[in-house]
Amino acid sequence: MENSIGTVIMATLFAILIYFLVTAQAKDPNIEEEELQAYNYMLSINDKMEKYLNKKVLSDWAYASNLTQENLNKNIKISAEVANIQKEIWHQIAQYNWQQFSDYSLRRQFWAYSTIGENALPEPQFKMLKKLVSDMESIYSTAKICDYKNSTKCDLLLEPDLTNILATSNDEKELRHVWIEWRNSIGPKCKDSYKSYVALSNEGAKLNNFSDQGEVWLKDYEDDTIKEQVHGNMWGQTWDNIAEKTLPYPDVEDSDYTAEMIKQNYTAIKIFQTAENFFKSINLTEMPRTFWKNSILEKPADRNLICHASAWDFYDQKDFRIKQCTEVTYEQMSTAHHEMGHIEYFLQYKDQPVPFRTGANDGDCISLSFGTTTHLRKIGLITSDNPDPKIVLNNLYRVGLGKIAFLPFGYLMDLWRWDVFSGKTTPDNYNCKWWELREKYQGLEPPVDRSEEDFDPAAKYHIIADVPYLRYFISFVIQFQFHRALCEKAGQYEPNNPKKPLHECDIYENTDAGNALK
Ligand SMILES: *[C@@H]1O[C@H](CO)[C@@H](O)[C@H](O)[C@H]1NC(C)=O
Ligand SMILES: *[C@@H]1O[C@H](CO)[C@@H](O)[C@H](O)[C@H]1NC(C)=O
Ligand SMILES: *[C@@H]1O[C@H](CO)[C@@H](O)[C@H](O)[C@H]1NC(C)=O
Ligand SMILES: *[C@@H]1O[C@H](CO)[C@@H](O)[C@H](O)[C@H]1NC(C)=O
Ligand SMILES: *[C@@H]1O[C@H](CO)[C@@H](O)[C@H](O)[C@H]1NC(C)=O
Ligand SMILES: *[C@@H]1O[C@H](CO)[C@@H](O)[C@H](O)[C@H]1NC(C)=O
Repeated sequence: MENSIGTVIMATLFAILIYFLVTAQAKDPNIEEEELQAYNYMLSINDKMEKYLNKKVLSDWAYASNLTQENLNKNIKISAEVANIQKEIWHQIAQYNWQQFSDYSLRRQFWAYSTIGENALPEPQFKMLKKLVSDMESIYSTAKICDYKNSTKCDLLLEPDLTNILATSNDEKELRHVWIEWRNSIGPKCKDSYKSYVALSNEGAKLNNFSDQGEVWLKDYEDDTIKEQVHGNMWGQTWDNIAEKTLPYPDVEDSDYTAEMIKQNYTAIKIFQTAENFFKSINLTEMPRTFWKNSILEKPADRNLICHASAWDFYDQKDFRIKQCTEVTYEQMSTAHHEMGHIEYFLQYKDQPVPFRTGANDGDCISLSFGTTTHLRKIGLITSDNPDPKIVLNNLYRVGLGKIAFLPFGYLMDLWRWDVFSGKTTPDNYNCKWWELREKYQGLEPPVDRSEEDFDPAAKYHIIADVPYLRYFISFVIQFQFHRALCEKAGQYEPNNPKKPLHECDIYENTDAGNALK
């Protein structure tokens, strides 16, 4: 009895105390004033960042689309200026008690500016790091190998030559030749740079109070258990390219979409117009005129460039571009939809504060509608009237090759790098560890023996270009969740209704689904 009265009194006193603490904090005039000042500070930062980021992205573009020493020097210079500004902001925001601000959006902006990664490095180290990555990108993008059948012809580039050979050749010896020569032309040249890149990135991470760069990459997930979360069950190990050779119903007509595109005289421009038409049909924004003017949609012949497809926001609310060395293939048309999806996001959040203008994750949601037989029939890539279930199965098989087979690869890219950054994997077993993971998760073996003289991870763009990869892995899961939600909105999918299966849902021309994206 006494005990419980005592408990009640204690609880009451405690509640009163909490009440005072909470109200005292919420009404603290100092914090309120500080918050108002912080709000104005963020507005001014935003203008400044927009201006500088515009300059920086223009110079990133100039280099990526024209790999000259002059463009690189300019790019490193402006990158260092922006890093300086980031550092200045970083020091200033440490003066604010921003964790106590009441405005959520304001707190988020402070939070975003509170980790600046490599920008924290002293200027000489920062420039060194930029140069290392740019050099590796340049080696990757300009690598040339000799033709298997004509050893004096030594001008084969990844895009389009090697990509085409890997997609179409049936000659095992030629495939092996391309596989080996591509790696020989990059790996050994990049290994030393990669070692230095890892060391410098980690230095930057430590300045941000992270143990290593792998931890910096994981910060944005805001989940301490992210590594465990993504450690799922993996299976499958094949690719889109082998579809024609392995389709469940190879004799069914209407299964070779690339052939149909060529027959219909598709061009790079027509591919992007097709993509734009999709977005417009669901009431999303059409591409601004500058998009068509400034983008690089076909490979220019007069210079070296980074062909890896990418979408660009120039932070000035009007300049948005895609750079893609587009070939007329079904896969590239799917990529075009993906890249334009980025531009749609840029357009949607162009008026947001700068820190909120980066993609939440790389999505591929639209390409799921695009790739259905329903849609391919609508745009005339499937021409038969006959709704043959074998066509649907062939198509689903193709989606599986692209999406399911990707998962183990999407995962191991960063699994390898987390251990590289943390020091668990050292330079003398870079390649060995890489192949351990390739075998464990993808069930793949190299076609010839490899050693530490080779550096095969460098044969993949995102490794040498310092681009994290876990985002793709996660996007390959959540895009299906987004797709399902949009299809429910569109009234085209109902669980347990065999007349409305998810794999036949195509949100094309459905403005309910499109408006839900805004
Ligand atoms: C590539 O950059 C160089 C500067 O290094 C410039 O002179 C040249 O005009 C550029 N080429 C194109 C096609 O823009
Ligand atoms: C960055 O700031 C430092 C110190 O304030 C200054 O010496 C340096 O010139 C600045 N660098 C650039 C590229 O603006
Ligand atoms: C081999 O390539 C060289 C250089 O491109 C070319 O001049 C030659 O005609 C090619 N030979 C054959 C047999 O195609
Ligand atoms: C990193 O931690 C040290 C020591 O705890 C602290 O003095 C410093 O302000 C922290 N730096 C950042 C950027 O959080
Ligand atoms: C494609 O181009 C060829 C040659 O110019 C022409 O004969 C054919 O009609 C075109 N096909 C389509 C579908 O436009
Ligand atoms: C298209 O979107 C705009 C706003 O972005 C909205 O006002 C309009 O009603 C939408 N149209 C349709 C057909 O849903």
